[in-house]
Amino acid sequence: MTMIKHVFLRGGFALMVAAFPMATLAAEITVYKSAQCGCCKKWVEHMRQNGFEVTAVDVRNLDEIKRKHAVPGHLAACHTSIAGGYVVEGHVPADAVKRLLSERPKVMGIAVPGMPMGSPGMEGDRKDSYEIMSFDTAGETKVFERR
Ligand code: CU
Ligand code: CU
Repeated sequence: MTMIKHVFLRGGFALMVAAFPMATLAAEITVYKSAQCGCCKKWVEHMRQNGFEVTAVDVRNLDEIKRKHAVPGHLAACHTSIAGGYVVEGHVPADAVKRLLSERPKVMGIAVPGMPMGSPGMEGDRKDSYEIMSFDTAGETKVFERR
């Protein structure tokens, strides 16, 4: 959906987008977040620092966004993002998003459930280990990476 929208928005550049889809779209990400949340802002910063062109959208009802993008309830975190047609839920590290976009597995998206301490945007005095999970439309989940 997102990719199609981008192609329409780009109008005259559609041909170029078709010829170099990764180069043009890989670094773009739209983040749906709550205006009050500080960790979401810090994650947006993390993504920008790692070369992503971030469009941050403050929304009132994040549950609605998560439902719309089939984020399994047990994988939910704070912000929900869309990049290259994939859903990126929560504090996923930028390099994992880059791997998702270059490998393009047949999944709906990836998620870091909860808000693990030490994940990007959740820096503090502790660094917990956590899993980056992938999920598909059937609600099937798999470990994408361990950190
Ligand atoms: Cu958060
Ligand atoms: Cu947050």
